[in-house]
Amino acid sequence: MTDLERSASAGDGHTDLAVANPESQYPVADPGHPEHLPRLTDVDEAAADRATRQVATMFALVPVLAIGFAVAYFAVPKTAYVDFGFLHVDLQHLLLGTTAGLALLLIGIGAVQWARQLMDDHEMVDYRHSATSDRDDREYVVTELQKGTEESKITRRKVLGRSLIGALAAMGIPLIVSFADLGPWPTKKRRAATIETTIWHEGVRLVNDVTYVPIKASDLEIGQLVNGQPENLKELEGTELQQAKAKSSIIIVRMDPRTIRIPASRQEWQVGGILCYSKICTHVGCPISLWEQQTHHLLCPCHQSTFDLGNSGLVIFGPAARALPQLPITVDAEGYLVARSGFTVPVGPSYFERDSRDDFKEGDN
Ligand code: FES
Repeated sequence: MTDLERSASAGDGHTDLAVANPESQYPVADPGHPEHLPRLTDVDEAAADRATRQVATMFALVPVLAIGFAVAYFAVPKTAYVDFGFLHVDLQHLLLGTTAGLALLLIGIGAVQWARQLMDDHEMVDYRHSATSDRDDREYVVTELQKGTEESKITRRKVLGRSLIGALAAMGIPLIVSFADLGPWPTKKRRAATIETTIWHEGVRLVNDVTYVPIKASDLEIGQLVNGQPENLKELEGTELQQAKAKSSIIIVRMDPRTIRIPASRQEWQVGGILCYSKICTHVGCPISLWEQQTHHLLCPCHQSTFDLGNSGLVIFGPAARALPQLPITVDAEGYLVARSGFTVPVGPSYFERDSRDDFKEGDN
């Protein structure tokens, strides 16, 4: 039996492998630790004070940056941009990222400097042992923790602990400020001005969503589907552009008028079998364009809601609860397709306050 086996079988299961190491098993001598050299801050109190001031200054800058974050959030317009060469950057996002990033960086650098320059600097060896902790080990850990607190100098150099607490507390400001993005409260008026409206209005041309070329009624063949956008989308940029684009996307389809059902109240909404619908699924908002030419059905790939475009966009299958909103269209003097008005009902998924009972007039379906 080797020394290692003897040690394992004789003890209480706590085999210290490093201690049970016979010289015969490791014939190369352990060179031991190199000589320990004290740091400047160990031998020079002035240097230690200097390091303390540096760390505390870093922590003290964090509240300034946190307040800068809040100011940038509320004071910088969401439409402001700056150009760095070919980069066109949202100014508010730039400032929010810079202030929050710098604040976190300063906390990190301050903590590292504190550990490197001011906490006690001694080397120690911890031997491998069984994963089970006995009472002695636990007492040892508690003692070491207390010792660590002493060695961190947090009790002696109170400014470090206080400035760190101040820095961490200040980082709550960006967190709390970010909650403002959960708002504003969706009052009836606000809903009417945001999610219940799009940039479509009378006379806006329908354009191809990739080329932005206006679409003529004569461009479309029976059975064709084209993805479109309003022409006035080009006037927007940034967040405003993305929001408007998400809500105003449309599909334009041309069907043989003899094969579809167009209710009397919607006769004026189409041009010789060309109909226009919102592209946004009324279930949870996926964009749709899986078009079954023969049946006039439009299938949503997300959860298989199916809408009958040949019958006012009614739901014929799937979880969607509302028909696809239809955009009334006509042609202008040059033969281009234009909106006759905006959407008559809100586009997109349902929401708590949405009442779909008025979506259809009598006889629509
Ligand atoms: S999002 Fe279209 S079916 Fe769910």
